[in-house]
Amino acid sequence: ERHKIKAILADTIDSYKDVIVMGWVRTKRVSKNIAFIEINDGSCLNNLQIVILNPSEFPLEDINRGASIKVQGYIDKVEGREQDVEMKAEKIDIIGEAPEDFILQKKRHSFEFLREIAHLRARTNTFGVVNRFRSKMSYAVHDYFYNKDFKYIHTPIITSGDAEGAGEVFKVTTLDLKELATDEKGEIDYSQDFFGKETGLTVSGQLEAELMASALGDVYTFGPTFRAEKSNTSRHASEFWMIEPEMAFCDLEEMMVLIEDFIKKLFTFALNEAAEEIEFFNKWIDNGRREIISNIIEADFAKISYTEAIDILEKSGIDFEYPVSWGIDLQSEHERFLTEKFFKKPIMVKDYPKDIKAFYMRQNDDNKTVAAVDCLVPGVGEIIGGSQREERYEKLKSRMQELEMDLEEYQWFLEIRKYGTVPHSGFGLGFERLLMYLSGMQNIRDVIPFPRTPGNAKF
Ligand code: 4AD
Ligand code: MG
Repeated sequence: ERHKIKAILADTIDSYKDVIVMGWVRTKRVSKNIAFIEINDGSCLNNLQIVILNPSEFPLEDINRGASIKVQGYIDKVEGREQDVEMKAEKIDIIGEAPEDFILQKKRHSFEFLREIAHLRARTNTFGVVNRFRSKMSYAVHDYFYNKDFKYIHTPIITSGDAEGAGEVFKVTTLDLKELATDEKGEIDYSQDFFGKETGLTVSGQLEAELMASALGDVYTFGPTFRAEKSNTSRHASEFWMIEPEMAFCDLEEMMVLIEDFIKKLFTFALNEAAEEIEFFNKWIDNGRREIISNIIEADFAKISYTEAIDILEKSGIDFEYPVSWGIDLQSEHERFLTEKFFKKPIMVKDYPKDIKAFYMRQNDDNKTVAAVDCLVPGVGEIIGGSQREERYEKLKSRMQELEMDLEEYQWFLEIRKYGTVPHSGFGLGFERLLMYLSGMQNIRDVIPFPRTPGNAKF
């Protein structure tokens, strides 16, 4: 019977005889009377040590680093060692050979190098840990909302609008681009397209989530979103996963309570259910990560208004590269000062100027700001953007007109404000940024298996 290495090392298997293990070879050491092979099967970080007491009877010559093998044998207890079990091999079959030129060496490779070979990097310790962590934290997200009785909804990937109005939509068409290029009119005739209209990949599931919240109450999406922005930074990807809850009968203040609770519960989950991964990050990626996570669970997030944030920045006496004045979009240097120097913990900034935020946000009574909230954290910057939505039909319509939006296109979005409209709020948490925050990994390209960034679409 096949066993996973995780179960063997955790001592949860019930038989120590006739055990079968399958995995990939990490190391091999052969001497005359004894040989050792370490294998990993992806179930956990640690390798299982295979001991071969009669090396001449095994096909060891053909077993190289990277090969996949099947080992039959029994599990032995070893006293006084860090890893207190090993496997004595009775039979080894090679499943898939690996030539000696296997690119992953025993030494540590740089993350830059590993990005070039993303098809193999999951076989390294770091990326094994990152990917298992990603899987666990995905589960944590669903677990949180399931326990709060939120409904998980699927919003479309192919959409016709631009939810954020930021002009960062990847176009989707079945039309032949080569033919279009020769079209002299210069305009694309989408009526010939499979969808019959201009479409793109979703930048956010929010607008559809609002429709569903208007029927189901509390909902959330968790799926891929796409941004055709040419920002080549360590925090931006063209394809990233976003968690977007949307709550009916909920205002900004109530949502801010949920945001803080959500983050703290995710962090608690990480400490308890992903202890192996956190231990690894703490040791190899960022010393002190565990303490940072614990502190965040205990901390009260700072809550300030945008106007207060500007005030703090202006009084800081710092000569920022991007000058500070009321109305600017907070730049990363400003976020860093607020989270890392001033508050030294996560902060929630609310009530932003309406002109730097999306059309759907609810206008405050001052006519200058909207009920938006961003959550900013040390090291990563913005991890959450959210708002109370404009639920008043006339207000939303006139704001859209002001922004010269095509009302026809968004007729459905306006229409739910006509029939039983309710105050509602929602936010988006960038899943990769959450993972960066928890792990201490410095580049978004290293917390998603196959990153999509400008100029990078291998695989
Ligand atoms: O602030 P954003 O653009 O907000 C929205 O899309 C809203 N419609 C969400 C909502 O209210 N339902 O994006 C939300 C979060 C950001 O705070 C950030 O964490 C992440 O998504 N994000 C990105 N992550 C990686 N790469 C990018 N290019 C990102 N753009 C946004
Ligand atoms: Mg934002």
